[in-house]
Amino acid sequence: MTSHQPLPAFPDGFLWGTSTSAFQIEGGVEADGRGPSVWDAFTRQPGRIKDGGDAAVATDHYHRWREDVALLRELGVGAYRFSVSWPRVLPTGRGEVNAPGLDFYDALVDALCEAGIEPVPTLFHWDTPLPLEERGGWLERDTAQWFADYADAVAARLADRVTRWITLNEPAEVTLLGYGLGDHAPGKRLLFDALPAAHHQLLGHGLAARALRARGVRSIGVANSHGPVWPVSSSEQDTGAAALYDLLTNLLFAEPLLLGRYPDEGLAAMLPGPVADDLGLIGGSLDWYGVNYYQPTLVGAPDPHAQADEFAGIGMPAELPFGIREIPGRERTGSGWAVVPEGLRETLRTLRERYGERLPPVLVTENGCAYPEPVADAGRIAFHDAHLRELHAALEEGADVRGYFVWSLLDNFEWAEGYEQRFGLVHVDYATGERTPKDSFRWLRDALRAQRPGA
Ligand code: NOJ
Repeated sequence: MTSHQPLPAFPDGFLWGTSTSAFQIEGGVEADGRGPSVWDAFTRQPGRIKDGGDAAVATDHYHRWREDVALLRELGVGAYRFSVSWPRVLPTGRGEVNAPGLDFYDALVDALCEAGIEPVPTLFHWDTPLPLEERGGWLERDTAQWFADYADAVAARLADRVTRWITLNEPAEVTLLGYGLGDHAPGKRLLFDALPAAHHQLLGHGLAARALRARGVRSIGVANSHGPVWPVSSSEQDTGAAALYDLLTNLLFAEPLLLGRYPDEGLAAMLPGPVADDLGLIGGSLDWYGVNYYQPTLVGAPDPHAQADEFAGIGMPAELPFGIREIPGRERTGSGWAVVPEGLRETLRTLRERYGERLPPVLVTENGCAYPEPVADAGRIAFHDAHLRELHAALEEGADVRGYFVWSLLDNFEWAEGYEQRFGLVHVDYATGERTPKDSFRWLRDALRAQRPGA
């Protein structure tokens, strides 16, 4: 599958970047007044993290960030997507700002600007301050307002240098994995009773967007996970199950943002209100739309014999009216995910078909894969090469995609999977913190150079 052909030329101004998130790379969890997050607490619960790891040190980016900016510069990306840790800025989630916490991001933003790399911060990448979680977290409406207050505090400091902002990362995963199934923090298994967490995150986005605009921000996105949902057969049961899964993971988070409504009346009725008023704030609040794409999902009626493998996305609790199957006949990444590059093009096509004019320009805010090889990661090169060719084909079909961010710059803490799954372009030795660029790093660097001959 590896192609040695150069990539097709992407449009001028196409934004190339890499993505990370605070909890997954920073470490320094007690440094300079940071408060605890729900993930700090979750990682301490026995059995929650596959390898028993925590993120107290992670890649130690909190102390090694200058080195990481140098890596980005060497890679030649135009942008770097990182996340701001809410508990670093507001140790209890609200109230008094912890100045050293903001100083950290201030210095990072300065260094990125100096290196000619656009800083693209995400305000919430899953690390809810623990004291807010103890009050119910995203199940509580107040959290939305506290999030907006936090967004305001960050913008007050960074908006003079940061143009593009992301409020939320993958609210669908927080809802489903965090509150619905309990595989992620806060570890609640509420099934359909998790739905308020979806609405409150969207409301938090709407309130934060309003606060950012009041600070002069004009470029706001969310990073939503998206992927095709394929029914395992054409039977009514399987197509019905797939439609429901699509509704809960794709439409539920896209429609309120893009159309200002929920995709289903019955579902909207399960959400805590005033939903109609809230939708007025949530709808039309985006300047661009972030898409995190990994793989399609093959869905059918619940299968009592399915072998659950949550990370590979297989299985589902029997109480839920759908089951997830392995996609047959595909290469798999090191984590068992199916390699389906054309799923990216399908995703972009589906978004255009569904939302037409209401879909703003898109950024692919994440796309990536886990492979175990420390340096010779041919699989990752083939993965990105194939996905970028599909993305280019999507552009030719008329998709308005303005950028592509690789997940991830560094190997990092992969949530409930711990450190075993390595998504980085750069290998991290967790014992020493040492960074070693992988073959994919050099491949991307050369591909980016070839995109701008003469530069
Ligand atoms: C999406 C999440 O945003 C990110 O945190 C995670 O590491 C990657 N997917 C890979 O699972």
